[in-house]
Formats: sequence, structure tokens, C-alpha cells
Amino acid sequence: MSNIQDKVVIITGASSGIGEATAKLLAKKGNKIVLGARREERLKEIMKDIDTEGELAAYQVTDVTKHDDVEDLAKLALDKFGRIDVWINNAGLMPHSTFDKLKVKEWERMVDVNIKGVLYGIAAALPSMRERKSGHFINLSSVAGHQTHPGGGVYSGTKYAVRAISEALRQEEAVAKSNVRVTIISPGAVATELPNTITDEDLKQGINQLYEAVAISPERIAETIAFAIDTPSDTTMNEILLRPTVQEV
Ligand SMILES: NC(=O)c1ccc[n+]([C@@H]2O[C@H](COP(=O)([O-])OP(=O)(O)OC[C@H]3O[C@@H](n4cnc5c(N)ncnc54)[C@H](OP(=O)(O)O)[C@@H]3O)[C@@H](O)[C@H]2O)c1
Repeated sequence: MSNIQDKVVIITGASSGIGEATAKLLAKKGNKIVLGARREERLKEIMKDIDTEGELAAYQVTDVTKHDDVEDLAKLALDKFGRIDVWINNAGLMPHSTFDKLKVKEWERMVDVNIKGVLYGIAAALPSMRERKSGHFINLSSVAGHQTHPGGGVYSGTKYAVRAISEALRQEEAVAKSNVRVTIISPGAVATELPNTITDEDLKQGINQLYEAVAISPERIAETIAFAIDTPSDTTMNEILLRPTVQEV
């Protein structure tokens, strides 16, 4: 496997955390990056860091809960770079709460971003990948997509769903012999802005303490994603589950 990559990579949720670290690393490795998220100022800052000339990267303000926004992000990649090699469904939020708090709006938001956002990403990228008989989806699930705990029911539900969706897509593309690869990335605690979305005061402090004690840097996940992309095309990393060494569960 080489250190040089030359792929057109679209990243949702590229304005912070894992998405930002992945954009920066993959740009450094020679890939062309298309960034999508809602916070334009953040995207502009990241663009300055990875591509001062605007030739190797592009961004578009994107809300993954809006199907049209996600289609427009794909169109930007196709218009500017002519193809989509890798689509990283990374945008997500984790407002943990126990069910008795009835934070129905937060449940809906997690379903909209963490599940429907992934489906819109698949819809936006799959047709051109099928046509070219080449492509790679990288979908962010979580350790929480393998196990759950009080307060994490809805978030876990969305991350289990990402794994189910990804596995069925993988099977379908294998049968179709489309050469479209599917990789699930399932991290444990990573030091990002993710816990900031928690509004349940009974849980917030404990989760922040856990993150402060064990979380690894988002660069570790970026390196893992780069490894999955770099795997020769006849082989796919179907899922990579990774945790901080000191994280127990
Ligand atoms: N950090 C962890 O411990 C951990 C562990 C396992 C899995 N993950 C998963 O990793 C992914 C990235 O999270 P992170 O840890 O890097 O957290 P983060 O720093 O909070 O990043 C989340 C990203 O998602 C974007 N986003 C949120 N809602 C969006 C929407 N409606 N449309 C478009 N973008 C949206 C945010 O950008 P804007 O606000 O600018 O839109 C931001 O760029 C998530 O799917 C998360 O579930 C994280």
C-alpha cells in the first residue's frame, strides 16, 4: 500500500472533529476533497489550511437532513473533479438522554442526521459509482453501534442502523459486481465536539469526564480511514472497530 492517494473524496460533517481531521490528512496525501457541513466559516478555515489555490478542494454549505443539499454536494464533486471515488458519511450528533426526559426533538434530529443523512449520501453517490463501476462508501457508526447503555438508546439505534444499511449495501454491490466498496468505521471515544450536543444535565458531566479521561485524537480515526481507502481495490475493510486502549466498554 502506498502513501500517495489520488482520489476524489467527499466528506459530510467536515467542519470539525473526525471530518476535519480526515479532510486534512487525505488532502495531504494527494486526494481531492469536497467538504460539506452547515458552518461555512469553519469550512472556509479548513479550505485555507488544505488548499490555498482552491484547485484541490471545494466546499459547499450542506445540511445532510436536506436531500437536495446532499445531491448538490455530489454535483459539485462531479462538476469540479469529474467523479466520486470515496463518499464519507460522517455527519452526526449524539445528544444522549434517558427516555424519561422525552427529548423527542433530539430523537428526531438523530434519526434525521445520523440515518437519513447517510441514506441521502448513498442516493447522491451510488448512481455515478455504479456507472463507473468503482467507488467506496465509508460510513461512521460507533462502538455504540455494537452495544448500548442507559441514555444512549436513540444514538445507538441510529448507529446500529448505519451498520445494517452499510452491510446490505455491501451485499447488493457484491452481487451486482459493481466494484463499489463499503466500509463501516466504529470508533470508541474520540476527542471532538460530539459531546457538546448533550443537553441532559444528569448525563452531561459524566460523559464529559469519560471523554476527558480516555478519548483519542480524531487524527487516529483519519489514519484509519486513509488505511481503508488505501486497501487494494479487490479487498475491502468491511468494518474497523477501534477504541482508545484505556477504554473499557
Ligand atoms: N467523537 C466520538 O467519540 C465518536 C465515536 C464514534 C462515532 N463517532 C461519529 O463520528 C462522526 C463525526 O463526529 P465527531 O466526533 O467528529 O463530532 P463533531 O466534531 O461534533 O462533528 C460532527 C460533524 O457533523 C456535522 N453535522 C451535524 N449536523 C449536520 C447536518 N445536519 N448537516 C451536515 N453536517 C452536520 C457538524 O458540522 P456542522 O455543525 O457545521 O453542520 C460537524 O462537522 C459522527 O457520525 C459520530 O457519531 C464519533
